[in-house]
Amino acid sequence: MPNEQLQNILQQMPKAELHIHIEGSLEPELIFELAQRNGVALAYKSVESLRNAYAFDNLQSFLDIYYAGASVLLTEQDFYDMTAAYLRRAALDNVRHAEIFFDPQTHTARGVPMHTVVDGIWRACQDGPISASLIMCFLRHLSEDEALATLEEALPLRGKIIGVGLDSSELGHPPEKFARVFERCRQLGLHLVAHAGEEGPPAYIETALDLLNVERIDHGVRCLEDPVLTKRLAREQIALTVCPLSNVKLRVFDHMGQHNLLDLLDAGLAVTINSDDPAYFGGYMNANFLAAFEALPLGLSHAHRLARNSFTASFLEPEAKRDFLAELDAVFATATATATATATATVG
Ligand code: ADE
Ligand code: ZN
Repeated sequence: MPNEQLQNILQQMPKAELHIHIEGSLEPELIFELAQRNGVALAYKSVESLRNAYAFDNLQSFLDIYYAGASVLLTEQDFYDMTAAYLRRAALDNVRHAEIFFDPQTHTARGVPMHTVVDGIWRACQDGPISASLIMCFLRHLSEDEALATLEEALPLRGKIIGVGLDSSELGHPPEKFARVFERCRQLGLHLVAHAGEEGPPAYIETALDLLNVERIDHGVRCLEDPVLTKRLAREQIALTVCPLSNVKLRVFDHMGQHNLLDLLDAGLAVTINSDDPAYFGGYMNANFLAAFEALPLGLSHAHRLARNSFTASFLEPEAKRDFLAELDAVFATATATATATATATVG
């Protein structure tokens, strides 16, 4: 474990979460409760047996079970309850702002109307204890025409959505497949992000930047395989929304000690820490911070930088960013003064 002072700081520092799939926050207990409420049959007999199935070989083996879990979501209240539970949990980790991904096609394909999905999630965000906004993701294993149709369906709800993303099975579905729909979203003034370089090659990060014009890369950990790309990401300070527990659970890295988080930071990249699908990967925001800091030689200055990056890379208005950053810097000024005083007392 990181020392007690560092653990406390990791827990208490204000932070933003920029990579959370709301369907991935659906805990097994809530899956069973919603299944019962909606009369949906599950392939598992108990919460316990469902949780035991959470052992993954790769991204696809996770996605199969993740989409099955989402099948219990039918009504606006279901989407509200799932989102409210996440926001309450995130607040306990001192997440002050969340930019929440949702996968409408997972639900509209089952006959759930788009407005049921968006209104339920959005209403919880209005009521929630923390600031939150919504990013609508297109499923990359489906066609671009289906993504375009999804965008059209969402247009009446444009005011509730700040941006779009690209998720689901990465390999074999390069960003360029979605160039037209992302261009249309850019014209609509939506923020743009995409998963790239999680399982896919560094070339997917490059095409996400050049052909989709994304502002952040979700995951992006494979960028280090390409030194030219790494230099570019550092120069342009393109944020990477890294998800340490996810990367280990989905076998991107064999164990946390092999995660390249410190190398990414040392390369000057704008790295952030996030939970991805916390109900499936063993922990929310602070569990991700603690696991990474336990396994890697990371200290106070890294914690400060990671939390700063989370606000800087967010899509918050400049004034809100400034306020969160000032609050964060004050926490670290106090922590640094305490650490210095403790060291002086110990030496003296
Ligand atoms: N959907 C939910 N989690 C995902 C991940 N880690 N990668 C791609 N798509 C996802
Ligand atoms: Zn993700």
